[in-house]
Amino acid sequence: MADALYKTLLAPTTLVDWDRSDKYHNSHLLQKDQTLEFTVQNSEANGLPPIAVSPAQGKFLYLLAKSIGAKRILEVGTLGGYSSINLARALPDDGKLVTLELKEHHAKIATENITKAGVASKVNVIVGPALASLQKLASEPKFDFVFIDADWDNVSNYFTEAKRLVRKGGVIVVDNVVQNGCVGNLADTSEFTAGVRKLLSALKDDNEVEATTISTASGKGYDGFLYAVRK
Ligand SMILES: C[S@@+](CC[C@H](N)C(=O)[O-])C[C@H]1O[C@@H](n2cnc3c(N)ncnc32)[C@H](O)[C@@H]1O
Repeated sequence: MADALYKTLLAPTTLVDWDRSDKYHNSHLLQKDQTLEFTVQNSEANGLPPIAVSPAQGKFLYLLAKSIGAKRILEVGTLGGYSSINLARALPDDGKLVTLELKEHHAKIATENITKAGVASKVNVIVGPALASLQKLASEPKFDFVFIDADWDNVSNYFTEAKRLVRKGGVIVVDNVVQNGCVGNLADTSEFTAGVRKLLSALKDDNEVEATTISTASGKGYDGFLYAVRK
C-alpha cells in the first residue's frame, strides 16, 4: 500500500498535473473572492504582468502572517497589490503593511486595488528602488513579517535589510527560490538564479536566522518559498 503511494509520488508530472491539482484543492479550501478576482483583472487590464502569487500562495501568506499575530508587515515587490491585499487582511485594524514598488504605474494600480479591497487604511505603498527604500526605514518599531518578492539579483541585500527590520521570532519569506529547479542547477547562469544562490550561500553561515525551503507546484509552475525565522 505505502509502496504504491511512494511509486505515485516519484512518477514524472507536468504543469498540467500541478494546475489540475491546484484547482482541485482550491475548490475545497478557497472561497470565491471577488476582490482578489478584481485585482487580477484590473492589473491585467492595465498591462501589469501576470506574476502575482497564486491564490493558494496568497492565502498561505495570509495564514502565516495571521498565525504569528502580525501587526506590522513589510513587503518588497507590490505589483498590483495581490499579495499586499492577502497580507493586509491578516492585520488587525491598527496594523500596518509597508509595501515597496519600483514602478509608479504598478504602485498606482496597486493603490486602486488596495482601496477597492477596503484595506487602504492599513497599507502604505512606497515608490522607488527597494534597497534605497529599505535603507531609509527606521529599525524601530520592528516588523513581525517580511515578504520579499522582487528583483532576485538583489535578494540577498533585501534579506540583510529584512533581518535588521524584523523582530526576534519574526518571519521572513522569500518567493521564487526554486525556479523550476534552476537554482539547484549550476549550469543555469541567469541573474535570477544567481541572486538566489548568493542568498543561500550567505545563509549557510548565518547565525541570525533559521531557514528552510518549501517547494511549491501549481498552475504558476514549480517554485518555492524560503521561510526564515529571526533568532
Ligand atoms: C513578482 S512582482 C510582485 C508580485 C506581488 N508580490 C504579488 O504577489 O502580488 C515583482 C514586483 O517588484 C517590482 N520591482 C522590481 N524591481 C524592483 C526594485 N528594485 N525595487 C522595488 N520593486 C521592484 C516590479 O516592478 C514588480 O511589480
